[in-house]
Amino acid sequence: MTASLSTQPPARSTPRAPASGDDRRGFVAKATAVLIGGLLVVFPFLAGLRVFADPLRRQGGRGVFLKITSLDSLADDGTPREFPVIADRRDSWNSYPSEPIGAVYLRRIEGPAKVEAFSVVCPHLGCFVGFIRERDIFRCPCHTSAFALDGAVISGPSPRGMDKLECQVRTEGGRDEVWVKFENFYTGRTEQVAKA
Ligand code: FES
Repeated sequence: MTASLSTQPPARSTPRAPASGDDRRGFVAKATAVLIGGLLVVFPFLAGLRVFADPLRRQGGRGVFLKITSLDSLADDGTPREFPVIADRRDSWNSYPSEPIGAVYLRRIEGPAKVEAFSVVCPHLGCFVGFIRERDIFRCPCHTSAFALDGAVISGPSPRGMDKLECQVRTEGGRDEVWVKFENFYTGRTEQVAKA
């Protein structure tokens, strides 16, 4: 028995019309891509907006008044005391409620101002200044700059006295509270210039 060879050309397959399921999948994929693209643009924008609106960055980046302590927590004799500065801190992605953002020295003084406030940061190169109670002076452990109780330089390489911070005594609920405008300043300069 001999096999016969067919002379018919092979049948062409007709292109298949996309099924409605394919259409749907294509639409969903495109919509997802557009949505993700939109989020990539909008999310950083909103994060940046929140950073800009942060109270610690308002007023052109200058400090804001923060409550530090009650007036009666300060000694009557003018001895300085160190306090942490607590604030709600935020970065682009997270918020950190009631975080320490720095520290200040407060001392009770005569006159209407009642309280003096100094940054603990040394104006020379930024180490933290300590208070030496036995000698009634502030002293920086890094390069031994020494400062008087009013913040003036006594000795050492610091180009200026300790950075003074604006301070207010506010009465709230019958209690005198000490508020400080907390700021950071450039080191190594003769003038006290707040960082923006
Ligand atoms: S950092 Fe304070 S004396 Fe140098």
